[in-house]
Amino acid sequence: MAKKLIAANWKENPGSAKDAVRLFKAVAAVQNPRADVLICAPFLFLEPLADTYRRLRPAGRKSRLALGAEDVFWEEKGAFTGGIGPKMLASFGVRHMLIGHSERRKWFRETDAMVNRKAKQVLQDGFTAILCVGEPRTVRKKGSRAAEAFVRAQLEKDLKGVPKGKLIVAYEPIWAIGSGEGARPEDAATMARCIKRALARKFGKVKVLYGGSVDGKTARNYVTLKDIDGALVGGASLKADEFKKIINSI
Ligand code: PGA
Repeated sequence: MAKKLIAANWKENPGSAKDAVRLFKAVAAVQNPRADVLICAPFLFLEPLADTYRRLRPAGRKSRLALGAEDVFWEEKGAFTGGIGPKMLASFGVRHMLIGHSERRKWFRETDAMVNRKAKQVLQDGFTAILCVGEPRTVRKKGSRAAEAFVRAQLEKDLKGVPKGKLIVAYEPIWAIGSGEGARPEDAATMARCIKRALARKFGKVKVLYGGSVDGKTARNYVTLKDIDGALVGGASLKADEFKKIINSI
């Protein structure tokens, strides 16, 4: 079986660098050769976490743990107050960047056009874009066909004209995020197949993660499925024991 990716999305958590380092150390101690682990943390914590990891990493052993960013701006540098570009992130060893998370779309008013610019820049720079897509509840209520059409349209807009590059898609139905009500695993797998089909011609084999209320108990229902290549985990990634269970569910 191909290796699965378990990605954490810490969002605006935890409240301090000290707590971030503590959580990171607990997670870094977990080793599962069948899983790659990615920790997407707030920008501010990337440096202390990268330092911690450098000190922790046993010499000579290839790491299964990487640090990622929760967002990125599309300009490399310049007069863009608050902006942080892909190459700045890369200078901390970050090569994976989430883009288009539904919370960015909601709270920061990110449009598909903005997500598209981010995707272009990240892929052009040679980094891995983890593009988040997913339908709202009103669409899911109309059935799988409607949900698939919604997600395909999102992919088309978000990836319009982007260069071929390292792309991962996280399928995160909006209604499943933080609600305790995950998608039915068979629906998530059907959507993953639909996403792969839609992207195959341009990108070849694309990994599709599932995200939305994944926890230690439910993770295996998703990540053991052939079409689902891993999970993007929010709330449960903030509890080291819970996140360990998810990593070990593979
Ligand atoms: P959740 O969040 O695991 O808390 O549902 C997932 C996400 O937003 O990536």
